[in-house]
Amino acid sequence: MTVSNASEQSSAFATTLVKNPGTLPEELMSRIAHKHTSLGVIEEQYPIVYEHLFAGIVKVFGDAVTPEIA
Ligand code: HEM
Repeated sequence: MTVSNASEQSSAFATTLVKNPGTLPEELMSRIAHKHTSLGVIEEQYPIVYEHLFAGIVKVFGDAVTPEIA
């Protein structure tokens, strides 16, 4: 995946997921995990970010956020 900015990267990532249903974006997940670990993020902090991140997602997408997605 060769992209030049964050917006293109998000779009290319979404397209990859849609084209490959059932597969996990392992390379991306690994990079994100390494980034958080290198920054010293700890397990206890994740529920806080999850809560507020999803509150924002629900605010923007409303009823489209089903329990299955959340
Ligand atoms: C549900 C939990 C979380 C998700 C989905 C998430 C998602 C992400 C993603 C996608 C990135 C970009 C990674 C990259 O550059 O490749 C990132 C970076 C980052 N995250 Fe998280 N994150 C979560 C939790 C947290 C927590 C708990 C903290 C700290 C309290 C945190 C702090 C950061 C910081 C400091 C960066 C780097 C930002 C930068 O490079 O400017 N994240 N996160």
